[in-house]
Amino acid sequence: MKAVKLIIPLMLIVLVTGCNGNDKRIIRIGHNQSTEHPIHLGLVAFEEYIEENLGDKYEVEVYPSELLGSQTDMVQLTQTGAIDFCVASNAILETFSKNYEIFNLPYLFASQEAYHAVMDDKTITDKLFKSTEKAGFEAVTWLDAGTRNFYTVKTPIESPADLKGLKIRVQQSPTNVEMMRLLGGSATPMGFGDVYTALQSNIIDGAENNELALTNNGHGDVCKYYSYDMHQMVPDILIGNYTFLQELTPEEREIFDRGFEIVNSVERQEWVSAVEAAKDKAANVQGVEFLYPDQEPFVEACMPLHESVLKNNPDIQPIYDAIQQYNDMYSKEE
Ligand code: GCU
Repeated sequence: MKAVKLIIPLMLIVLVTGCNGNDKRIIRIGHNQSTEHPIHLGLVAFEEYIEENLGDKYEVEVYPSELLGSQTDMVQLTQTGAIDFCVASNAILETFSKNYEIFNLPYLFASQEAYHAVMDDKTITDKLFKSTEKAGFEAVTWLDAGTRNFYTVKTPIESPADLKGLKIRVQQSPTNVEMMRLLGGSATPMGFGDVYTALQSNIIDGAENNELALTNNGHGDVCKYYSYDMHQMVPDILIGNYTFLQELTPEEREIFDRGFEIVNSVERQEWVSAVEAAKDKAANVQGVEFLYPDQEPFVEACMPLHESVLKNNPDIQPIYDAIQQYNDMYSKEE
């Protein structure tokens, strides 16, 4: 099924490329969200910017909604150069490069301000973003994906004890699977595109994500409880094929770098209003109840993961320490 899902769009690409009468270099970018999502809007702004400035040479095509496959499929296509860019959650990048584990740690950031400040600090992110030459890609910017919280079909989650016996979809990352184990639920890793059907057919009891999953992805039609335990702030990352980026001239690279900044700023600006709109629709149209449990028991259950991940991967300790400075600077928001 997955292979078919991937092959059909790829055939379409070949067809489209084959029919393309001009000799412009087509730049293909894949992501897994809808065309209303802030990520898509950011990438469309990128498309416009690149075509305005380098339009005689490049044509940008943005493929939404898993048209090019799941995020894991798209990362693989980016690695080989079959496509040029894709947006992947930091969660799944950990299986391609271990150091991405850092931003998958639950309760890593003391506040949203600390999270944004860390992700904007190039002295923290640059080394990691440029460390994946061997894996065939480079990370070019980060995108806000808000805060991840649990949501369920039937059982309101007020404390970790409520997760016991529930099958909860998590992203395909060992850190997330371990997080669920520590919280007492049963982790069911799967790609994002499969979650709605799994919820609807009772294969899983719930999932965890930001508020847009309720509306943009329809999960709020099935899940009626959304609990602000605030366990993770996992960024999305725009990655590009390493060779493609290396082969740009310095002048072109400068323009692309400005384009990456545009994706980041448009997406983040759109994010704020998108979350507000999603909360409103979920509460007033879909009938989702928002819960505000005491976060402390969730934090306590998750903390051993910081220690074990740092012990197994001491390379990320410097980033972890730098994050603590921002946590002190921007301590917990209300
Ligand atoms: C968020 C995130 C996506 C990710 C998804 C998931 O929506 O923005 O990049 O794929 O969560 O849970 O898989």
